[in-house]
Amino acid sequence: MDGDPKRLSRSATPTAPVAPALPAAGRLPRREYHEVLRGQPALVTGANSGIGRAVAMGLARAGADVAVNYVTHPEAADEVAHEIEAMGRKAITLKADVSEEADVERMYARAIAHFGTLHIAVSNAGLQRDHPFDEMTLEAWNTVIGVNLTGQFLCTRAATREFKRRGVVSSVSQAAGKIICMSSVHQLIPWAGHANYAASKGGVAMMMKSIAQELAPHFIRVNSIAPGAIRTPINTSAWETPEAYADLMTLVPYKRIGEPEDVAQAAVWLASDASDYVTGATLYVDGGMTLYPGFTTGG
Ligand code: BGC
Repeated sequence: MDGDPKRLSRSATPTAPVAPALPAAGRLPRREYHEVLRGQPALVTGANSGIGRAVAMGLARAGADVAVNYVTHPEAADEVAHEIEAMGRKAITLKADVSEEADVERMYARAIAHFGTLHIAVSNAGLQRDHPFDEMTLEAWNTVIGVNLTGQFLCTRAATREFKRRGVVSSVSQAAGKIICMSSVHQLIPWAGHANYAASKGGVAMMMKSIAQELAPHFIRVNSIAPGAIRTPINTSAWETPEAYADLMTLVPYKRIGEPEDVAQAAVWLASDASDYVTGATLYVDGGMTLYPGFTTGG
């Protein structure tokens, strides 16, 4: 074992089938996705790190101009914007706390003024404040619900107003707009010590389906991505040591941690017309974490 979890072998037994090589990090299959999102500006919240950053870059690589939201670390947002511009796309960085209605309204107004309109809204910003349940403060509860659930409500509502106002532009997309909610496997899997987080993602699941039902007649598609364990700063302790990584792998049938680019590729597909008949769906990007790995034997 060389200490780099990325390079841990996928199986303990050398005779097991060898999985095909992963695509190089950050590279989307260009033949399929190149430019499919051209002319479709996107706003991605929490786009200065982790999954949000990868999604912003993935959408740009697929042709979209991107509004890069952040709340802290403006320099990281600037770096994402520069990388997007280096791809020949337009980018704008926008500071907003997604749990604050005035911030969200201002951010959407600025993005729409800057790009002329928006076609893709990725509500990704999220955080964890983990505590044993009886030690969880109301503040820890409210902070997580505020960003992860209310934030998605506020951003999705602002996007919906613009999509309804503008309607379908058939030269650009078959849909009037695409909303992608970043959920989690914990919209399904209960998570001790994380009641606030799991409740927020359970809320995202039902909000997403309810608005998907309501907005389908307006040709607005609403879907979620439910990532499992993805290598980002939110869960460093789950993968940074070989011991933690080995523990994590007992929960992942596919025997590797997810990379932010795995989620980005799902987001590009959900944002594109390739998924035009998909709405109200949750796409689990989790290496099988939701397949009850504890039942691989026995039961
Ligand atoms: C959480 C991570 C966790 C993963 C799988 C995600 O939603 O943010 O901290 O590693 O779920 O449990």
